[in-house]
Amino acid sequence: MGLSERIGRIKPSPTLAVSSKAKAMKVKGIDVVSFGAGEPDFDTPQHIKEAAIQAIQNGFTKYTPASGIDELKEAVCEKFARDNGLTFDKSHVVISCGGKHAFYNLAQVLLDPGDEAIIPAPYWVSYPDMVLLAGGNPVVVETDEANGFKLTPEQLDEALSDKTKIVVINSPSNPTGAAYTREELEALANVILKYPNAHVISDEIYEKIVYDGYTFTSIANCGEEIFKRTIIIHGVSKTYAMTGWRIGFTAGDAAIIKAVSMLQSQSTSNPTSIAQKAAVAALRGPQGPVDDMVRAFQERRDFTISRLNAMEGVSCLTPHGAFYAFPNINAYMGKGYKDYKITSGYDLAAYLLDEVNVAAVPGDAFGKAGYLRLSFATSMDEIKKGLDRIEEGLGKLKE
Ligand SMILES: Cc1ncc(COP(=O)(O)O)c(C=O)c1O
Repeated sequence: MGLSERIGRIKPSPTLAVSSKAKAMKVKGIDVVSFGAGEPDFDTPQHIKEAAIQAIQNGFTKYTPASGIDELKEAVCEKFARDNGLTFDKSHVVISCGGKHAFYNLAQVLLDPGDEAIIPAPYWVSYPDMVLLAGGNPVVVETDEANGFKLTPEQLDEALSDKTKIVVINSPSNPTGAAYTREELEALANVILKYPNAHVISDEIYEKIVYDGYTFTSIANCGEEIFKRTIIIHGVSKTYAMTGWRIGFTAGDAAIIKAVSMLQSQSTSNPTSIAQKAAVAALRGPQGPVDDMVRAFQERRDFTISRLNAMEGVSCLTPHGAFYAFPNINAYMGKGYKDYKITSGYDLAAYLLDEVNVAAVPGDAFGKAGYLRLSFATSMDEIKKGLDRIEEGLGKLKE
């Protein structure tokens, strides 16, 4: 068909594939409980919607600068100063079409063929593919449940080399909810600083969705040297229930930001003008709706984790952030029911979808076999129903 070699390097996003299969089943009238979605089930807060409506009424519907409007860049700088004690000016910020686009652009401007990007697993599904698309080599470092799915300085030291261009840190993490402490980040920073070519991409999109009073720290807070080497990607998608608006942002070294801005000027042009105005309202407006969402997530998390841990053969660490549970289902490997034989997380996810109509994403998709990812960004009623069904489905699996 004449497609490029480049596009042949990547595969479709497995998380989007699970949610679209679940949606298709629902359209057919099947009562599917979906734990697949990576987005808050809440509506975008009213004051944010009104800012967008106002933007339309005011005719703010034309091209903006490709790197985003100054007003939003300033709101982003205020956010970093207020929440993180980090000082950026507008030359250090670019607005993109979502956090995914922000990472994509960084991979494009930082990686040459042969350059390596260290990606701790379990990882957000899109990192390796975006690295591959840019011609780089993903170096996946598998973390252990025993270490809370966090990268240790020893593991990082072993993976780093002169070829390392990027180290990805995603805290709190999708899919495990693991969130690093300042001490842990300092230890990682000390290792990275031994390698002058290595940059950190710190994906902080779940910064605000944290539990049990966890205090978020960015690796950029761990000293002046690592601050200079860190590029933060972030956005409004998860914090403000704005996944469809497609606004993300990147903050870091001015030369890198300039390169990303140039790339956008020759690819997407500006993120949607109206959505940029909405993002200004999100960042500068009342933060109460975020607190309300986080409270609801915490209640669902508590229920989900204790229910999972009460299931035969299932164990699940308590996530400190994001809205995912990552239960260990290794005990079901090798078991079966009727024609189903479970040899991987993919098999288990397919079995649960067909047999008890529950959509979950296999851990394998995140680079970790023997686990499932369940998003608890859905109503408590759905969570209860879905977990009952999972228990029923697992109960049928025998040696
Ligand atoms: C870890 C992580 N980073 C970035 C993103 C991208 O978010 P968006 O492109 O919707 O802003 C996601 C979305 O699922 C994510 O889980």
